[in-house]
Amino acid sequence: MKREFAIIGAGRLGRTLGRLLALREYAPAGLSCRTLRSARQARAFIGGGEPTTSNVQAAALAPLVLIATPDREIVPVARDLARGRLQWRGRIVAHTSGAISSAALESLKRCGALVASLHPLASIAAPRPDLDLQGTPFAIEGDPGAVRPLRRLIIEVGGTPVTIPRQAKALYHLIACILSNDLVAFLAGGFEAARGLGLGTRQAARLYLPLIRGTVENVARLGPVRALTGPVSRGDIATLRLHGEALRTLPAEVRRVHRALAVRSAGLALEGGRITPEVAARLVRLLGSLP
Ligand SMILES: NC(=O)c1ccc[n+]([C@@H]2O[C@H](COP(=O)([O-])OP(=O)(O)OC[C@H]3O[C@@H](n4cnc5c(N)ncnc54)[C@H](OP(=O)(O)O)[C@@H]3O)[C@@H](O)[C@H]2O)c1
Repeated sequence: MKREFAIIGAGRLGRTLGRLLALREYAPAGLSCRTLRSARQARAFIGGGEPTTSNVQAAALAPLVLIATPDREIVPVARDLARGRLQWRGRIVAHTSGAISSAALESLKRCGALVASLHPLASIAAPRPDLDLQGTPFAIEGDPGAVRPLRRLIIEVGGTPVTIPRQAKALYHLIACILSNDLVAFLAGGFEAARGLGLGTRQAARLYLPLIRGTVENVARLGPVRALTGPVSRGDIATLRLHGEALRTLPAEVRRVHRALAVRSAGLALEGGRITPEVAARLVRLLGSLP
């Protein structure tokens, strides 16, 4: 028999998880969102479930409740649910925040629920019906009685459970933000600079994406020290001087980020023995004098 689940906050992640679960041995029951329109869209995407704007009503329909609201809503939603006079003993409740631990569900734990946090290390910008989370690490922590069945659930949707202790979650999530969200902002700066070549964002992405992908693959295969190429890695000071003029055309924050990261690259080149400490020092001086 399929195991029923409810999703509170059926947005980008909630819909994606809901659909993947519905395609396996799980049956969508309650789906709640702030707006009924959104909950109905979630039902259409997931392929079932009862749309509502009442979190208590949604939770009442299933023994497994996933809270995928924005982080700031998790504690208030949990408190509202705890006030909702449901039988919580025997229910599993997990939220999907990367930074916040299962302690955010304390109010439900006090009512007898088994609580956990469950975070896919993935960036779901727009839910697609064909999206799968095959091979995605899922950070998990919480009550052993919740963690055991949730580990099975993670494996069933193709993920890999990874234990992150609750006190380490903020750091674990910060690293994810640096490597994913900051990367988006960084790429946006590069694409903005490509306006100087007369290219729009899409055209710039087409031109530079093979380079970006190749770079990320090199880092994965070789590690950052060996993956570094470019004028800093070779100590090509004359090339960096040439960049000086072109740099003037870029927005100030893009220039700042470039200078800071080029100094970091000089450190990597030095660590890899590609340049001497003297060349590294000259590079750092030159980078500091660039516009
Ligand atoms: N997106 C990702 O890549 C990703 C990856 C890993 C983890 N997460 C985690 O997943 C959670 C949700 O992120 P998301 O990106 O999926 O957010 P999202 O797309 O903004 O979806 C949030 C959903 O929560 C609903 N909601 C907001 N307040 C609510 C409340 N008080 N009661 C019930 N529903 C409420 C919203 O309803 P309306 O649509 O009606 O506004 C929306 O459907 C966060 O904890 C995030 O850290 C996200």
